[in-house]
Amino acid sequence: MQTIMKRLLPLFLLTLIMLACGGGEETTSEAPAAETPAVAAAQDIDVKKIWKIRCIACHGLYGDMGTNGAANLQESTRDLAYRVNIITNGSENGIMTPFKDILSPEEIEAMAKYTMTFNENL
Ligand code: HEC
Repeated sequence: MQTIMKRLLPLFLLTLIMLACGGGEETTSEAPAAETPAVAAAQDIDVKKIWKIRCIACHGLYGDMGTNGAANLQESTRDLAYRVNIITNGSENGIMTPFKDILSPEEIEAMAKYTMTFNENL
């Protein structure tokens, strides 16, 4: 019971955050077509540093190392919501650990966006 709550609460919070962020982006009239890493800029989050400390062991520097069956991020076409969720709560098979107690929601979203830069086709 407690485990279920623990898994669902961050999901709920993330949904709220994403709704808030998504809405803001769409209504901004001056938003250029190019992607703006708003979160990273606002919070000055060093995604590359976090990557090297927290993620590189399984995913590798370029996202394609695949240690422990880690998904190849150069090929992944998962959307932002999926990535935020898996970074927050870990993978269902438990191999990728949850980062919700280690990274802030802002850092998790920045990391999720960062992982999308590995796939040149996204
Ligand atoms: C202990 C190894 C490990 C670490 C550390 C790890 N991951 Fe993962 N990651 C995995 C595995 C395994 C999967 C595939 C899980 C699955 O699909 O069930 C995965 C999947 C993902 C996915 C989903 C990609 C897809 O297409 O399914 C993203 C995004 C991701 N990781 C980002 C990160 C980020 C960001 C970090 C660091 C904050 C990180 N990972 C740290 C093992 C790891």
